[in-house]
Amino acid sequence: MTAPLRIGIAGSGFAGKFHHKNLRGLAAVTAGVTSVRPESRAAFGAEFGVPVFDSVEAMLPHVDVLDICTPPSSHAAYIRAAARAGKHVIVEKPFHGFFGSPESHSKEEMLAAVTGELRDIRDTVGSSGVLLGYAENYIYAPSVQRERQILEATKAQILRMTAEESHSGSHSPFYGIWSEQGGGSLIGKGCHPLGGVLYLKRKEGLARRGSPIRPAAVSCRTHAITKLPAFEDRGYLRTTYKDTEDYAFLHVIFDDGTVADITTSELVLGGVYDFIEVFANNHRTRCRIQPVGVVDLYSPDKREFAGMDLMEKISSNEGWIPAYPEFGWSNGQFAEMRDFVDSMLAGRQPECDLALAIDITLAIYAGYASADRKGQEVEVPLL
Ligand SMILES: NC(=O)c1ccc[n+]([C@@H]2O[C@H](COP(=O)([O-])OP(=O)(O)OC[C@H]3O[C@@H](n4cnc5c(N)ncnc54)[C@H](O)[C@@H]3O)[C@@H](O)[C@H]2O)c1
Repeated sequence: MTAPLRIGIAGSGFAGKFHHKNLRGLAAVTAGVTSVRPESRAAFGAEFGVPVFDSVEAMLPHVDVLDICTPPSSHAAYIRAAARAGKHVIVEKPFHGFFGSPESHSKEEMLAAVTGELRDIRDTVGSSGVLLGYAENYIYAPSVQRERQILEATKAQILRMTAEESHSGSHSPFYGIWSEQGGGSLIGKGCHPLGGVLYLKRKEGLARRGSPIRPAAVSCRTHAITKLPAFEDRGYLRTTYKDTEDYAFLHVIFDDGTVADITTSELVLGGVYDFIEVFANNHRTRCRIQPVGVVDLYSPDKREFAGMDLMEKISSNEGWIPAYPEFGWSNGQFAEMRDFVDSMLAGRQPECDLALAIDITLAIYAGYASADRKGQEVEVPLL
């Protein structure tokens, strides 16, 4: 494959825009955009000078890579379409899910259905020979990459990890509807720290024993705290979740017996709260994803910084603000696009690949099955 790599973006919303912006300076060009909404794809094309296509099918012949930035329920169909057309794939989180109603399907049924679909996606992508980059930005965060270097250099053993992604609630109107998102906080937010911890144990296994350490079993609890009759709403948290959890705790047991604990919720004020803490046999690391403490910005009055994007999910640009230097730097979103472009041009697997995307998804749905049984241990299927 020759540079520049021609990227076709499906979905012209928030993620589609930052994927396009993060291609700057790379050996790639946005060669097309599409979206179900004609006005949205036209606006993206006009703003960024990108050719607009009516559908993914119409765009595929003109690109080398399909970059899927659409809602989760459309990911699987687009992955299959790209693979069958011989095009590489970039796909946003969450990789895949179960999009039926939780009222008419048990979580056990969801786990079985998702497992079958993941097997089919793995076979389709595998037989097509294309590469798939799963856009889990935690894996590319500078702090997580520093931890990977330490694991590889010192052959450290991770004994336990704690990790979290939480904030005061997504703004997307589709968030909180199971049939749109495939679940609530666990899949929508928890997929990030879960991806990070599964990646680090995978890397540890490759460094120490020559094979990845995988998640073997999980125990999980999920709760809808803002739906409790006892919840006192002061108006700072989003509360409009239809049929999903707004809090989840996932305990992961790896195949070597070590553990990780993931907390995720929509119940945290004061900005995003995103980290992985590693407790190893020879070191301890706090990987801050956001905020990172590179810039402390002070504003005496919120009018000074009105409308400025300084840090995700803070409700006021007044007082001391732990601003990010630039959106996408500390959380890995710049670095993930570089790796996808470089690996696809070189014909090698990206750092965050299909195997990891599958393990993350299986651990999430094993978690939902466990939560249905009030935390009983559930095995993570092995495809
Ligand atoms: N990694 C991250 O931090 C991060 C951040 C935000 C969103 N995301 C992920 O990116 C994806 C998109 O989220 P978003 O926030 O950009 O949503 P969005 O609503 O801002 O944009 C979605 C876009 O997809 C289009 N669309 C919807 N269904 C489609 C279909 N079937 N085919 C083609 N286009 C379709 C919409 O018209 C819209 O242009 C989701 O999977 C989300 O979880 C990831």
